[in-house]
Amino acid sequence: MAEKRNIFLIGPMGAGKSTIGRHLAQMLHLDFYDSDQEIESRSGADISWVFDIEGEEGFRVREARVINDLTEKQGIVLATGGGSVISKEVRNRLSARGIVVYLETTIDKQVARTQRDKRRPLLQVDEPRGVLEKLAGERNPLYEEVADLVVRTDDQSAKVVANEIIERL
Ligand code: S3P
Repeated sequence: MAEKRNIFLIGPMGAGKSTIGRHLAQMLHLDFYDSDQEIESRSGADISWVFDIEGEEGFRVREARVINDLTEKQGIVLATGGGSVISKEVRNRLSARGIVVYLETTIDKQVARTQRDKRRPLLQVDEPRGVLEKLAGERNPLYEEVADLVVRTDDQSAKVVANEIIERL
């Protein structure tokens, strides 16, 4: 039987990867995974705890391991953490194992979508916009490098974006 394809969503915090990914998986009858959730269930701790105890370095080791394991599967939609692409190993793995979709949006949208959310340790600062801008400068070229498809998620609903992805696959 032909291998079932995988779809991997990449992009910054607040791009809508998890929400859009859930819709996409439902529409395509694929299984949905979220790398942050998987890290939490494997470690028994939330992401902030992992950052506190093991630092960002420890978190990245866990993240790369989880992505490596999940991408062994077939027929999944995976929402990756926004920083996962800083690892070349992760970028290569995603490219090799599925279709990589970069969800792109504006810094304004990212700020609006993440401001009520206390789960992201990198944004627990006085000026989250500055952090998001700095990360965008470092990471946008990496998202672009690894993307098979780039989709904007500015004003459309998650369902509409999921439909657009399906049309353009
Ligand atoms: C991070 C993004 C988060 C999470 C962690 C670090 C990042 O995931 O993995 O807080 O470095 O951009 P989301 O992109 O799902 O918010």
